[in-house]
Amino acid sequence: MKRIAKLLLVVFTINFCTLNADEGMFLVHLIGEKTYADMQKSGLKLSKEQLYDMNKASIKDAIVIFGGGCTAEIVSKEGLLFTNHHCGYGSIAGVSSVQHNYLKDGFWAKSKTEEIACPGLSVQFLVKIDDVTSAVQEKLKDINPNEYTAKLPSILAEMGKKAEEGTNYEVRVSSFFKGNQFLQFTYQRYKDVRLVGTPPESIGKFGGDTDNWEYPRHTGDFSIFRVYQAADGTASTEYKADNVPFQPKYFLPVSIKGLNEGDYAMIYGYPGGTNRYETSYGVKLKIDVENPNLVKLREERLKLMKTEMLANPSVKLQLASSYAGIANYWKFFDGESKQLIKHNVLAQKQKDEAAFEKWAKGKTEYDNLFADMKKAYDAWTPYAKGRVYLQEGILGSPLLAFASRLKTLNEQLSTTDTKPEDLKKTISAVKKSHESFMEAENITSDKNILAVVLRMFYNDIDASQQPTDFYNELKAAYGDLTKEETYKKYAEDVFSRSFLLTTAKWDLFISNPSASALQTDLAFKTVMAFVNNYNNNYEKYFKEFTATTFALNNKYQKGILEMNKGKVLYPDANFTMRVSYGTVKSYSPSKGVKYSEVALLNGVKEKYVAGDYEFDVPAKLLDLIKNKDYGQYIDKKANDVVVNFITTNDITGGNSGSPVMNANGELIGLAFDGNYEALSHKIAFDKDLNRTICVDIRYVLFIVDKLGGAKNIIDELQLIKN
Ligand code: ARG
Repeated sequence: MKRIAKLLLVVFTINFCTLNADEGMFLVHLIGEKTYADMQKSGLKLSKEQLYDMNKASIKDAIVIFGGGCTAEIVSKEGLLFTNHHCGYGSIAGVSSVQHNYLKDGFWAKSKTEEIACPGLSVQFLVKIDDVTSAVQEKLKDINPNEYTAKLPSILAEMGKKAEEGTNYEVRVSSFFKGNQFLQFTYQRYKDVRLVGTPPESIGKFGGDTDNWEYPRHTGDFSIFRVYQAADGTASTEYKADNVPFQPKYFLPVSIKGLNEGDYAMIYGYPGGTNRYETSYGVKLKIDVENPNLVKLREERLKLMKTEMLANPSVKLQLASSYAGIANYWKFFDGESKQLIKHNVLAQKQKDEAAFEKWAKGKTEYDNLFADMKKAYDAWTPYAKGRVYLQEGILGSPLLAFASRLKTLNEQLSTTDTKPEDLKKTISAVKKSHESFMEAENITSDKNILAVVLRMFYNDIDASQQPTDFYNELKAAYGDLTKEETYKKYAEDVFSRSFLLTTAKWDLFISNPSASALQTDLAFKTVMAFVNNYNNNYEKYFKEFTATTFALNNKYQKGILEMNKGKVLYPDANFTMRVSYGTVKSYSPSKGVKYSEVALLNGVKEKYVAGDYEFDVPAKLLDLIKNKDYGQYIDKKANDVVVNFITTNDITGGNSGSPVMNANGELIGLAFDGNYEALSHKIAFDKDLNRTICVDIRYVLFIVDKLGGAKNIIDELQLIKN
């Protein structure tokens, strides 16, 4: 019955703007009656106030931004929080050493005194949301839409700064519906966050890049931290021994009652970005130029990094986090292109645009919208590849990326107009940046990367768009530009001669910096040849392109809103708190193939490969499986432990670590990935194929309890049992 109803709905609403079942990342405070009614129909048992209440404790008070780009949730009255392993990854690697290798071996604090401070890690709680659309529009009144991209960021930043004055908060103003609505978000940041527990990487990242973005999946992608506050109850303090555990307004109870196909599933979190209203022109540029070139360059860099990581455990620790980040979106963008093509998204977008044009006929404001869009894309497209090669190629060398950060210093040193306080600021910033660069630098892989990307730029980028002087000099001094050897010799020289790589030489330079010294540095010279080539010749086209397309997209979006008045629309994700709802549901990736809604622990045993980089697991886990020692975490129906499950929820990157809740708002899992068949999801939600991959909370607790022996963590939770 339900199935038929849904089918009918689809037939009558092929129109692109209308929601598919389970599509939508809704602003928690703006859930309308229609959406709430639909949530209830899907099974939700909570009141609207329990979902979000400005004044009283509600679910939103348990949800935080974790670090720079993930979500986490508070699960105890003492500030304990759950997030993904891949979200804690950088911090776990950061507090590890070859002797105390928590990334490799896992870590379990058996008491609070054993918890490990994680410098640089913070969480942010959402305090309040204000609609500031009219205030922003007032400021934009006299500005030409073509200047929005240039001026909007600083206008919004200034408004945020102003709102922060005299408070302890951080305030950020975000643009919705492509500049048609503006909301101001007030956050409270906590900077003392400590590691409480993590499984070994072999469990937390089981399946590695092979299984990343794929289902069926068997990954224990979780880690556990605790938020601390100052003894006097205030928030924004760095690590201090006498800080005390954070006391939350609200925390999530944890259900180990299990789940069934069709169960309600709700996810809160911070989806980073979608582009559901992207035009056909944008899709085409992505498929033709942006994605394939990014993928090609990343593939080369990853190969060279991996060689060094496999050869040396300390290099593995050093590069692990950066490697994982590059690899994650290497696979994503490759898959995204494949799915955009497979699902014919370009043609669908063209159809949407034709429908829009039909609706807009006679409304002069929309005249030539798509003709102008086409013109803008046509003008920029010839240069787009060069930009990807600069960003993902040349700046894919960590040394060159760091050297490029010295550009402002060079400029300030080259003129007598620089104010001493400005120079001082720059110097202190680059000093910090040099420190983190040196910590993360692996010379061998970087040197190899430099040789490869210089050669690729020469081979792949139109000769008219290359830094000609650079390649001419290279040829004169190092030989044939078609030979790999030439680039290897050059990279060798850059790395042996650059003073940026030697702490003593760098310290000497930065204690008394001069433009002449900097300009003779081979790494700086190299990167500036490419950066200046881009800035002097192509950046103007890019600026024009982004400005024009922003104004056009803003107008297109405005029209879409008008055209769909009265219907439920949701704004693109922009790293603000959203809620999505759906159900636990199996799927069929292709005819004759069906993936179960749950993936079981027995599957870990099946995939296990002793000593493998991605599919090894600790002997103790194999023992637990052999002895069926599952305790209260067993799924009776399956007579096994459910490791991962899937739901129809609409999420994206940034949602990682998000709580998956049942109809009562109890935690049943953590969202950690999306499936390969729907990797076009940032641009087009596929109602049949889209799935969110979640780690079952019972697997999390099984690992904590049976593998880690950390009963203290289990005891801290509010468990809901049968
Ligand atoms: N694809 C996941 C996400 O973007 C990250 C998974 C990390 N695991 C990995 N094997 N790289 O949220």
